[in-house]
Amino acid sequence: MNILVINGPNLNLLGTRNPEIYGTETLEELMMWLENSTESANHNFKFYQSNHEGEIIDILHDERQWAQGVVINAGAYSHYSYAIRDAIEAIKIFTVDVHLSDINNREKFRKNNVIKDVCIQTISGKGKLVYLEAIKCLKNKYINEK
Ligand code: DQA
Repeated sequence: MNILVINGPNLNLLGTRNPEIYGTETLEELMMWLENSTESANHNFKFYQSNHEGEIIDILHDERQWAQGVVINAGAYSHYSYAIRDAIEAIKIFTVDVHLSDINNREKFRKNNVIKDVCIQTISGKGKLVYLEAIKCLKNKYINEK
């Protein structure tokens, strides 16, 4: 599969950002770990990180012909960006919504997830394993729909 991985705002600061919540690995380390995991063998990846809502939407649009699956951690945009929600709906590509932390057991505003209803699954609270589970989820969906 061609898998597009998008990380949203503030995730470029992983490693130093709230390490007690998000861990001490950098985003680059996490993405390298993901790409080199056995689960990822035979898949092609494109990785993006952006702090800008419109840029995330542009990436979804621009890669919609290439991508067969999307893994997105939209960061705080997950809680209020109807524009990213609509972009995911519009491109009609299986998308998994991931969060390193358990968004249901933190501040109240994080319980509100406006993108989850256009994603095939939300996986949160397992640290970097959420990205790996998202790949498994996309693979199963892809095989079943073929
Ligand atoms: C996050 C959770 C969001 O609430 C937060 O705004 C983030 C990261 C996570 O991966 O746990 O930036 O998506």
